[in-house]
Amino acid sequence: MSVASVTRIPLVDLGAQYASICDEVLPAIEAVLRSSAFIHGPFVAAFEREMAVFADTQHCIGSANGTEAIFVALKALGVKAGDEVITVANTFTATAEAIAWTGAVPRLVDIDPADHLIDPAAVAAAVNSRTVGIVPVHLFGQPARMPELHEIARRHGLFIVEDAAQAHGASEGGRPVGTFGQATTYSFYPGKNLGAYGDAGAVTTNDADLERQIRLVSDHGRVGRYEHTVVGYGSRLDGLQAAILSVKLKHLPAWTAARQRIAARYDALLAGMPGIRAVTPRPGAVSVYHLYVVEVAAACRDPLREWLDQYGIDSGIHYPIPLHLQAAYAYLDHAEGEFPHAEAKARQIVSLPVYPELTDAQQDHIVSSVAAFLDAHPAARQ
Ligand SMILES: Cc1ncc(COP(=O)(O)O)c(C=O)c1O
Repeated sequence: MSVASVTRIPLVDLGAQYASICDEVLPAIEAVLRSSAFIHGPFVAAFEREMAVFADTQHCIGSANGTEAIFVALKALGVKAGDEVITVANTFTATAEAIAWTGAVPRLVDIDPADHLIDPAAVAAAVNSRTVGIVPVHLFGQPARMPELHEIARRHGLFIVEDAAQAHGASEGGRPVGTFGQATTYSFYPGKNLGAYGDAGAVTTNDADLERQIRLVSDHGRVGRYEHTVVGYGSRLDGLQAAILSVKLKHLPAWTAARQRIAARYDALLAGMPGIRAVTPRPGAVSVYHLYVVEVAAACRDPLREWLDQYGIDSGIHYPIPLHLQAAYAYLDHAEGEFPHAEAKARQIVSLPVYPELTDAQQDHIVSSVAAFLDAHPAARQ
């Protein structure tokens, strides 16, 4: 197939998704506009109820975005300056940012190279007298090793806030993410598996006291219209995003199944291709494939991405610089080489397009372009 004949394949195709649901989305938006229920109100309450059911938890509290969802959960749990909260070096900066804004120190640890997720052994080694909690990240749509993390938390009296920004509906041993920790946070950034048409997020919990505290923190510490019992924060889900999310949540199980089918097809097509390895969930773990990530030799990673670009295929890196090497976290005094697995994988990973509307023909083009790259680069096949 010539390069020119191919329509570009994006990493995520939100336009294709909108085309499939616009008949449902537009009336939902109009209903919010007609009722002026922009902040709080029935659309937010309805989505919170539906999301709690989806996540198999008792409570869901909408937030302005996934970063503030982590922040308000931590604040509600009492995290403060002088505390340490353990999280992982390979995540989006938001996870550590939210910890840092509470005044606590984000205590970064390395990944397990097998699945690129937070390594429970590294977590156990990082616990000290200042540690108050763990924020594991369910990266790429895969669940972190929650039973082991839960046991470490239990042993040391720590809380767990699960960062499920990339993992709506993932599970471990039949148990959904979001049911292991004290609270779980979601991002509904537009490109997420469940994405709003703007910024949005949520926290889920099974603890009624924590729910009340999160609502208090998220809404200016307010108990009456102008009565404020704590210094809170303004981080609310708005009615328009809630109404859109209610429409999209109904489609999420089918979209997730489509992602999983596409991932299984990639697995089969790439299997046995020398020089490339897919990051696959460990046995018992069910990924919702927010991202489909492969590893190649570090020297070939950028050339592969350039090659795919030439063939009209977008790709990504999640993430190119581990947090301990980011300038923003220089104050944590980490050194290069400190988290060797996160550093090595950051040089090898490529995210290939995965979204429910990706066609078999598009996927075949992606896979044959990868195969052509590997054929043309014998060094990659080592
Ligand atoms: C792992 C992770 N945590 C937190 C966030 C923050 O979510 P938001 O962009 O909605 O603030 C994201 C979103 O990119 C994420 O991928």
